[in-house]
Amino acid sequence: MLKLFHIALAYLTVLGFVVRGIWALTDSPLRQQRWVRIVPHIIDTGLLVLGIVLMLSLSLSPLTGWLAAKLLGLLAYIGFGVLTMRATSKPLALAGFAGALISVGYIFAVAFTRSAWPLAA
Ligand code: HEM
Repeated sequence: MLKLFHIALAYLTVLGFVVRGIWALTDSPLRQQRWVRIVPHIIDTGLLVLGIVLMLSLSLSPLTGWLAAKLLGLLAYIGFGVLTMRATSKPLALAGFAGALISVGYIFAVAFTRSAWPLAA
């Protein structure tokens, strides 16, 4: 049940990020709406909290194995995401967008294969 919510929020964060990324890249005023600035934080906090609850309930260590890889991927997703939203030039924002999508793709691959090297799994 918890895992189902975690997975649902995982899809929502990507969906929300793609929409906001496109709005950022096209300078759309839609991204300035109040709820657009707030809801992603609620989704991402929920995703993180549920991930931590799952981690504790499965007695996993966040410092080893696939979960450590997933957390590194998460740091990259956050970093590239911030770059996308705050970049002062289009090419930089586009690079951030691409980096964030690759990072979150890696996180999904790690989550589904439970391997830090999903392509080798
Ligand atoms: C962008 C962030 C994240 C995404 C996209 C994501 C995605 C997923 C997905 C799709 C699954 C289901 C895998 C399956 O079908 O078995 C999953 C499971 C899981 N995730 Fe995440 N996750 C994220 C962040 C986190 C964080 C921050 C933690 C822990 C601190 C975490 C811990 C877990 C655990 C423990 C499971 C359960 C694995 C199992 O049942 O063996 N996740 N995650």
